[in-house]
Amino acid sequence: MRKIVIAGNWKMNKNRAEAAELVKAIAPKAEDALCDVIVCVPFTDLDVVCNAAKDTKIKVGAQNCHWAKSGAYTGEISADMLVEAGIEYVIIGHSERRQYFGETDITVNQRVKAALEAGLKVILCVGELLEEREQGITAEICSMQVKIALTDIPADQLDNIIIAYEPVWAIGTGKTATADQADEVCGIIRNVIASLYCECCAEKVIIQYGGSMNAKNAAELLAKPNVDGGLIGGASLKPDDFGVIIAAATEEMKK
Ligand code: PGA
Repeated sequence: MRKIVIAGNWKMNKNRAEAAELVKAIAPKAEDALCDVIVCVPFTDLDVVCNAAKDTKIKVGAQNCHWAKSGAYTGEISADMLVEAGIEYVIIGHSERRQYFGETDITVNQRVKAALEAGLKVILCVGELLEEREQGITAEICSMQVKIALTDIPADQLDNIIIAYEPVWAIGTGKTATADQADEVCGIIRNVIASLYCECCAEKVIIQYGGSMNAKNAAELLAKPNVDGGLIGGASLKPDDFGVIIAAATEEMKK
């Protein structure tokens, strides 16, 4: 049985004091969790969040990293820098990076490779735009994004990759994919992994759903066979709501 992984994506929210406070509020809710709990926080919060998360079940991630080891890339942070800062996870290819910062499938692949080489675990985001869903090309878009992102990634690295299916139209909009829609696309992505690698790899790979997952809809989404967790934006900033999602994941794991 696959583990459920609940990850918060704080985006560009929380100053250092607020970040420490939020982790302290989440910690007791993660204490008895059977799922994994990750918070992906702004770069400037990483050290305080690592400190606050010490001796708790919470793991810490960043929200992006560059593909080069070092060099003239003003404003960027390398994967090695994150490792040195004690960070375990990094989100790559979030739709906001694709939409606002020129991220492409090719640069997503470069970042994934660099992150894995540095020893980070990657939360790789893919997902279709509303127009693409309406055109009936969701499967093609998500399959293509996964295939390009995983180019030259060997099978033994799949243990270090979580795929997050995040339909762009559901992110921050309050419009969640139905549990069946989420399950269907997570299943399509699982089949892509089977075709790229092997059936066993597909059975093992963790695929999250993200996009307006919240305290109310989490249990139904997490109950779906192909949905192995959530990447949660808005609701991860509210400790009580995030706690309910963690509890729903724990209940699901007990089944
Ligand atoms: P949301 O964000 O939960 O606020 O929709 C999800 C994400 O962007 O990862």
